[in-house]
Amino acid sequence: MILIKNGRVIDPLNKIDKKQDIIIENDRIKEIGENLDLKYNQKDLKVIDADNLVIAPGFVDVHVHFRDPGLTYKEDIHTGANSAAKGGYTTVVCMANTKPPIDNANVLKDLVEREQSLLINVLNTANVTVGMQGKELTDFKALKEANAIGLTDDGIPIKDEKLVLEAFKKAKELDLPISLHEEDPALIGSSGVNQGAISKKIGVKGAPAIAEDVLVARDCMLALEVGNKIDIQHISSKRSVEIIELAKKMGANVYAEVTPQHIALTEEAVLTKGTMAKVNPPLRTKEDKDALIMALKKGVIDMIATDHAPHSKEEKMKSISEAPSGMIGLETALAVCITNLVKSGHLSLMQLIEKMTINPARFYNLEVGHLTEGAKADIVIFDDKQSWIVDKKDFVSKASNSPFIGEKLYGRVKYTICNGKIVYSDMQEL
Ligand code: DOR
Ligand code: ZN
Repeated sequence: MILIKNGRVIDPLNKIDKKQDIIIENDRIKEIGENLDLKYNQKDLKVIDADNLVIAPGFVDVHVHFRDPGLTYKEDIHTGANSAAKGGYTTVVCMANTKPPIDNANVLKDLVEREQSLLINVLNTANVTVGMQGKELTDFKALKEANAIGLTDDGIPIKDEKLVLEAFKKAKELDLPISLHEEDPALIGSSGVNQGAISKKIGVKGAPAIAEDVLVARDCMLALEVGNKIDIQHISSKRSVEIIELAKKMGANVYAEVTPQHIALTEEAVLTKGTMAKVNPPLRTKEDKDALIMALKKGVIDMIATDHAPHSKEEKMKSISEAPSGMIGLETALAVCITNLVKSGHLSLMQLIEKMTINPARFYNLEVGHLTEGAKADIVIFDDKQSWIVDKKDFVSKASNSPFIGEKLYGRVKYTICNGKIVYSDMQEL
C-alpha cells in the first residue's frame, strides 16, 4: 500500500480542495481522508510526504503524436509514454497521422497490442478518411471494434463538407467523437506562421486566422445539425472562440481544446525561437492569446491539450519555410500553464486541473480524471511554486523541439502514479 500524506488534494469532479491523505491499494484508491497514517499499519505502507505539494488526478491529454508506426525516429510509444509520465500524464490519446496512417483495423490492432506494456494509459484515435486523403471514409465500425476511441485526420484538415457531414452522421450512430484540425488550405499562403506583421517581416506568406475560422464555423454548424460530439482541436484565434461560444449556446455538442503554447506565446516568438515556434495552427496575436485565456476562464474552451508533436533536430534545423510544424509539450505543459494562467491570476489551480483531467476524460467518456475511493489510482503530485529552467538535455522525449528551452517556469511534477504504481519521480530516493 502507498500512503500519500499532508498534501493539498485538488479534485474538480468531487469539488475537493483541502489537506488530505490518500491510501492506494493495488491499482485503486482505497481511502481519502484525514490522518490516515494513524489508521493503517505503518510497516505495510510506502509513505510519500506531500507536504506543500498538490495532489491531483493524473493528467489526461487528448492530443499527442507518438509517431508510431513509421516515424519512430521522432518519437515512439515508449519514449512518448515516458515523456508523458514525466509531465504528470497518466492517460494520453494518440493522433493517427502516422506512417502508415491509422486508417484500418490491422494497423490499429498491432499498435494497441504493443501499447499494453506501457507505464501509462496510451489510447488511440483512427482516421476519418482513407489515407487522410479527404476522399473516402474509413470503416468506422471496424476501427471502433479495434479500440479506436475517436476519429481524426489531425494534421490535415478535411476540405469536403459533404464528406464531413456524412462522417458526423456515421460517428453519431457509433457514438464516436470526432476531433478536427481546422485550417482551410485554400486560404493558407504557407503554414506554421501567422499571416500578419511577422510573416511579412520574415518574408513568408503565412496562415491567416480566417482559414481556421471558416472551418470552425462550418463544423460547429454541421455538428449542431447532426447532434454528434466534436472537438475543435488546438484553437488559436479570437473569432474561432466566439463561434464556439455561440455554437455551444445554440446547443451543439462541441468541445474545444487549446495548447499551452497558444496561451503562452504570440507570433513574435518566431523571431526569437525560429522553427521551434512554427506550429499549425500558428501562434497568433496578443489579442488572440488573451481571448483564448478568457475563453478558458469562462469555460468556452474545455480542455488543455499539448499537441505534443516531436520532430528531429535535422528537420527543425531547416529553414522556416521547409521545417515541419509542431513542438513537444508533455514535459512542460503543467509549468507553462501554471506560469501563464495560475501565477498570472487568470485561473485557479482547480480550474486548471479541471481542464487537464475531468474535462478531457469526459470528451472520450473515459473512467479517469478524478480522485474517488474505489477508482483507479492515477495521480500526479506536484509543487506549484517550484521554479526551474527548461533544459534541452532533461527531456526524456526523443525530441527536443520546444520553444520553452531556456525559459524559467513555475510548477514541477514530483510523482506520477498510474494504476497504483509510481511511474515517475523526480525525488532522490528512487
Ligand atoms: O503543428 C502541428 N504538427 N500541427 C498538427 O496538427 C500536426 C502536428 C504534427 O503532426 O507534427
Ligand atoms: Zn492538429
